[in-house]
Amino acid sequence: MKFNNIIIDQQENLAVVTINRPKKLNALNKETILELSNAFKALESEESIKVIVLTGSGDKAFVAGADISEFADFSIEEGGKLAAKGQELLFDLVENLSKPVIAVINGFALGGGLELAMSCHFRIASTNAKMGLPEVSLGVIPGYGGTQRLAQLVGKGKAMEMIMTAGMISADDAKDWGLVNTVTTQEELLELAKNIASKIMRNSSVAISAAIRAVNANFDKEVNGYEVEIAEFGNCFGTEDFKEGTSAFLEKRKPSFPGK
Ligand code: COA
Repeated sequence: MKFNNIIIDQQENLAVVTINRPKKLNALNKETILELSNAFKALESEESIKVIVLTGSGDKAFVAGADISEFADFSIEEGGKLAAKGQELLFDLVENLSKPVIAVINGFALGGGLELAMSCHFRIASTNAKMGLPEVSLGVIPGYGGTQRLAQLVGKGKAMEMIMTAGMISADDAKDWGLVNTVTTQEELLELAKNIASKIMRNSSVAISAAIRAVNANFDKEVNGYEVEIAEFGNCFGTEDFKEGTSAFLEKRKPSFPGK
């Protein structure tokens, strides 16, 4: 697959997806959203890939937002469609992907950039990173799930403050608030992501997919998360990974999961 705005680097079972528009601080234009959507779908169906890391190119930005130049003259209808299409194509896709996606926030994560990072299963950041949802300073609100996911991650009060002030918070504050899990230097950030990814890869990919569905069920008003957990838990007992994991434990050896 050929892309103009993203780079995919596959390293054995890891895929590093880099958004590559550094001159525009990796702002998400329509083409980049489509390319990311296609890339995530392709990586999800590629058996060898166990974990996906998402980052931005250059040392300044993860993603500085949706590309403002593309929607400045939109009508009410076009605005609504922009949000709906983006959520469907990319943000909901990433959140519900069956493989773990780690956001590696290497600089500004603003607007759609922070929303994209929040769609990922969890986030780590470099010390220089700055995060915010500045949309109200442009006369609009977050449209790629930001009003929902920020409140889920940091609580309603902090989300309201961040959105209303349109301000940016530092990586350390983001960690205190639970928005990112770990903060390290920019030089060490990707290595940290790879270390976390290698820990994840030792475990059952089938069970990890089930865990993603169960955790996400908590935020889906249509379903009861506890019931989803019970069903997913039960299904695990029919997998080859479960047989291997329990056998390996009882035989005092390391498991070698078939991923089935
Ligand atoms: N959409 C489109 N272009 C963007 C962009 C965005 N969200 N964010 C940055 N860019 C572009 C700038 O227009 C500039 O392009 P140019 O060199 O052709 O003029 C380039 O990226 C570099 O940005 P610049 O503003 O010169 O960098 P800076 O270091 O002075 O400021 C920011 C960095 C992140 C504070 C500033 O770019 C910014 O506020 N960006 C918009 C953030 C935002 O509101 N995002 C939410 C969108 S809904």
